[in-house]
Amino acid sequence: MSGTAPLALTIVQAGGDELDEVMSVIERSFDPRFGEAWTRAQCAGILPMSGVSLLLARSEDEPVGFSLSRRVADEAELLLIGVVPEARGRGIAGALVDRFVADSRAAGSSHLHLEVRDGNPAVSLYRQHQFGVAGRRSKYYRGPGGELFDALTMVYTVEPQ
Ligand SMILES: CC(C)(COP(=O)(O)OP(=O)(O)OC[C@H]1O[C@@H](n2cnc3c(N)ncnc32)[C@H](O)[C@@H]1OP(=O)(O)O)[C@@H](O)C(=O)NCCC(=O)NCCS
Repeated sequence: MSGTAPLALTIVQAGGDELDEVMSVIERSFDPRFGEAWTRAQCAGILPMSGVSLLLARSEDEPVGFSLSRRVADEAELLLIGVVPEARGRGIAGALVDRFVADSRAAGSSHLHLEVRDGNPAVSLYRQHQFGVAGRRSKYYRGPGGELFDALTMVYTVEPQ
């Protein structure tokens, strides 16, 4: 899994059976200073909801990344994405964002959006995948010590084909 050898990456649609694997990625991916990670209860609670999609990326059978998104009417929101530190910089998050965009388009979504903490390196990831900053939500994330962080709203507009 480490090094720069080509990745044998598989991305599967996940559900409750894969929640342990997804939580192991979440627990290793997010810096607790920023209050961005979801708890197991939050993930389990949203999974049965209509339009929710949980994708799990595995490399050599090990869980290395995930994304969580939700479609409502013609909108799709990328709620959360994470890759374990030892597998970063190898395009796994990019593959998950590409899959979110492709699945959303296939489902007829015309407006794709997300929120991200201002200053999170993921802003570059989203920009690279044609998301643009559309707004700012002041003091949106709360760290464990009560520190507040702004969120940026980013959008991707699906052009009619
Ligand atoms: C953000 C995150 C998902 C990126 O995962 P990754 O698999 O390393 O990302 P990729 O390898 O697909 O990177 C694709 C592009 O994103 C950008 N990017 C990713 N990580 C970056 C970083 N630390 N600094 C700057 N740009 C970064 C780059 O543009 C990169 O393209 P490049 O490799 O051609 O330069 C990962 O760092 C992570 O899990 N962070 C913690 C959780 C989090 O904050 N998630 C986002 C909010 S929900």
